[in-house]
Amino acid sequence: KQSPVIAPSILAADFARLGEDTAAALAAGADWVHFDVMDNHYVPNLTMGPMVLGALRKYGITAPIDVHLMVKPVDRIVPDFAKAGASLISFHPEASEHIDRTLGLIKDSGCKAGLVFNPATPLDHLDYVMDKLDMILIMSVNPGFGGQQFIPTALEKLRQARARIDASGHAIRLEIDGGVTAQNIGAIAAAGADTFVAGSAIFHAGDYRAEIAAMRDAIAQ
Ligand code: DX5
Ligand code: ZN
Repeated sequence: KQSPVIAPSILAADFARLGEDTAAALAAGADWVHFDVMDNHYVPNLTMGPMVLGALRKYGITAPIDVHLMVKPVDRIVPDFAKAGASLISFHPEASEHIDRTLGLIKDSGCKAGLVFNPATPLDHLDYVMDKLDMILIMSVNPGFGGQQFIPTALEKLRQARARIDASGHAIRLEIDGGVTAQNIGAIAAAGADTFVAGSAIFHAGDYRAEIAAMRDAIAQ
């Protein structure tokens, strides 16, 4: 297991002042920025693309940006996100015609690569690609919206993913996304996650710093 990373999902930030709000979450102790890309096709919502990511870099955000692609098709947008300054790009296997090719494309573009599993998607897609992965992302809500309830079966899936990572011997992060709070993050860490996305729990808290500190305390328990 790698050192814990807290990645606020800026889907829950104030879009009218995205640079400031992102910087505020980082200044309050966050490690990464989680950047949710939705296309009103693979998921029923529309968010932001490479231009917005580039604008955050231009604004001065230097932290790793963890791009979660909820788009179909995947491949043609990958180079644009890499050029805009993405650090890691994750995609859903259902959205790619050729998973191995998409992983290769992400790596060739200079980014780290992740594969995302929806609540009802089995982990079988991992079987032949563990050597190409930098992260596995387990969704604990159905993708498309922030502010949803954590689906508890994600805990068992985290345990299974953790076992696969440990057996592989590769340094692969295990990320959880959806409904994460300071109340449930301890159980999520115990199930094997080391990378924690939280949108509404952080951005709807009055005090980002206190919320992130409470999450870190619960992870360390
Ligand atoms: C959902 C997104 C999540 C979402 C998490 O499709 O992938 O990253 O923003 O938001 P919360 O933490 O509010 O569930
Ligand atoms: Zn996400």
